[in-house]
Amino acid sequence: MSNFAKGAEPVDRAAAILDEQSASQAVQTMFNSIAPRYDLLNHVLSANIDRLWWRRAAREFRAVLLRPEATVLDMCCGTGDMTLALLRHRPANGRPVIALDFAHAMLVRGKQKLPSHKAIAIEADALQMPVADATVDLITSAFGFRNLANYQAGLCEMRRVLRVGGEIGILDFSEPDGALGAMYRFYFSRILPRIGRAISGSSSPYEYLPRSVHRFPSPSEMLRMMTDCGFSNASWTPYTFGIAGLYRAVKT
Ligand SMILES: C[S@@+](CC[C@H](N)C(=O)[O-])C[C@H]1O[C@@H](n2cnc3c(N)ncnc32)[C@H](O)[C@@H]1O
Repeated sequence: MSNFAKGAEPVDRAAAILDEQSASQAVQTMFNSIAPRYDLLNHVLSANIDRLWWRRAAREFRAVLLRPEATVLDMCCGTGDMTLALLRHRPANGRPVIALDFAHAMLVRGKQKLPSHKAIAIEADALQMPVADATVDLITSAFGFRNLANYQAGLCEMRRVLRVGGEIGILDFSEPDGALGAMYRFYFSRILPRIGRAISGSSSPYEYLPRSVHRFPSPSEMLRMMTDCGFSNASWTPYTFGIAGLYRAVKT
């Protein structure tokens, strides 16, 4: 079922697919338009905590990253900060990391940061990756998975390209409960769009961000989806009081 057309009956499937396509195009257009300011905004809006999250998530996969022959794919890589965090653990003779995104302008920025012999950029949709079945050992996605038009399809596509024993790591925001959650929602819905508008000149991406976090499934729902999709050992580790967190699972 489309994330943008919850409740659609099978008879409405064609309409749901069209909804998914237009939602996906809107996301692509939005990231292409904010690409020149994306890194600056990211660091300002997160007070640089994002760097710690990328590094922490990458460390979790150190064992596979250290294997030179391992095939590693950073899905929805954007301007490449998660890819860079992964590269810190790759040996000198390691295969290049595949950095995949469908927003051309984000990839262009990323290419300026990523050493060309250590990363291969692929411009493609995460829901239809030009990658052979069962060929990848690790797929990461930092703050990208949430933007997919269809989460189940995204998980199935990740599972398709993974080898048996391969792992996924999805780092993304979540909405904490209680007083912290209230503060977080206030910051996300009131403060962040204003700062975003002041720096980027456009408010819509930063109005989209809180909406996308709100729409994103809760950790328990995500874990259920991962299991339904055929993954094992699904887990979620909260980062910074649950503002963000890392989902992990294995293809068995
Ligand atoms: C918030 S950015 C995250 C970028 C980077 N991973 C980071 O941590 O900074 C989300 C990225 O996901 C990409 N994206 C969203 N949907 C996608 C899809 N269906 N296929 C490929 N890339 C997608 C966007 O183009 C964007 O670059």
